[in-house]
Amino acid sequence: MIEIRFTLNGQPVSARVAPALPALTLLRDSFGLTGTKPGCGEGECGACTILLDGRAVNSCLLPSALLDGREVLTIEGLESPSGTLHPVQRAFVEAGAVQCGFCTPGMIMRTVAFLRERSHPSDDEIARSIEGNLCRCTGYVKIQQAIRAAADELGVGGTEGGS
Ligand code: FES
Ligand code: FES
Repeated sequence: MIEIRFTLNGQPVSARVAPALPALTLLRDSFGLTGTKPGCGEGECGACTILLDGRAVNSCLLPSALLDGREVLTIEGLESPSGTLHPVQRAFVEAGAVQCGFCTPGMIMRTVAFLRERSHPSDDEIARSIEGNLCRCTGYVKIQQAIRAAADELGVGGTEGGS
């Protein structure tokens, strides 16, 4: 077991972990952050996507030891302290891009990272941005419409953080 310290949704935290414990398991079982979903467990579906130092990663494949000293953002940390949804969250709701919702936290976290790097993406770039995230329900069209709407909002001087 090792001691790790990291920033979780803006708060400093620590934990004693087996170094290879998947970050997904740590976040869900030790911190109660069940918004990050366990899908395939093999890096194939994207349901477990979180941001690590701002980059989208599959937390099922991420050893907890690698969280030490890093910044972790999960779906629970996206909305503002007053509870206002992040523009990407709002866009998914308004576009009807959520059905069963299992893929949604991963899709949203992937999109937040993507739109930080690409403020004016093409439709093709939007489609490719979620290639690693699987959805069994929506057929992806409404998800891509949501990403377009969020990109348009954030790209026109919009602010992140939902306020
Ligand atoms: S659960 Fe991590 S990629 Fe599927
Ligand atoms: S909304 Fe059900 S898997 Fe995407």
